[in-house]
Amino acid sequence: MLVAPSVLSADFGQLAHDVRRICDAGCDLVHVDVMDGHFVPNLTIGPVVVSAIAAAATKPLDIHLMVENNAFFVDLFAPLQPEFISFHIEEEKHPHRLIQKIRSLGIRPAIVLSPHTLPERLEYLLEDLDMVLLMSVNPGFGGQCFIPNVIAKIKRLKQLRDAINPDCLIEIDGGVNDTNIVMLRDAGVDVCVAGSYVFKHHNIKTAIDTLHV
Ligand code: DX5
Ligand code: ZN
Repeated sequence: MLVAPSVLSADFGQLAHDVRRICDAGCDLVHVDVMDGHFVPNLTIGPVVVSAIAAAATKPLDIHLMVENNAFFVDLFAPLQPEFISFHIEEEKHPHRLIQKIRSLGIRPAIVLSPHTLPERLEYLLEDLDMVLLMSVNPGFGGQCFIPNVIAKIKRLKQLRDAINPDCLIEIDGGVNDTNIVMLRDAGVDVCVAGSYVFKHHNIKTAIDTLHV
């Protein structure tokens, strides 16, 4: 299991320090939640702050867009050369075109599914994707409860993924902690995002080690 702590739960008064702490503690990716106040009812950070995160990070960035106008935001963040950019399929008229655009910029493309979205929507996109992110909470906020029916969805997605593109990673985001991580791994998850569990833990390294199942 790769571990991608979400800096949404970091202390923004000492953001660079918190980014260094998760990297030093052995995380695999730094998950960055970009929200525009339109696609989701919350507003977070833009390229100025994300470039400060990139400067502090010693691990690759995993940028999760929760925005309208995905292509505009891809252009904004491309100069930071994140490992992944993921966008919500619910907000994209031309997902195939956007996947090609992200890859042409030297970034690995990923698609996010909100809790209500069927994995079958990816059938003709999976062969071009490097990762699929399944939301296990409604996008917009950290600290929410895990939605249990996502386990069945992971298993359905894994069947499709194994048949179409076994190299494509499955990532989970929302309500991940020490009580559900083994179940998530067993269902087929390759990468976990965790915000509040990691940053509220009294020992960040222990939290990350616990998720490395
Ligand atoms: C929610 C974000 C998540 C969030 C996860 O829209 O995509 O990345 O930070 O936070 P936790 O782990 O606290 O649910
Ligand atoms: Zn996220």
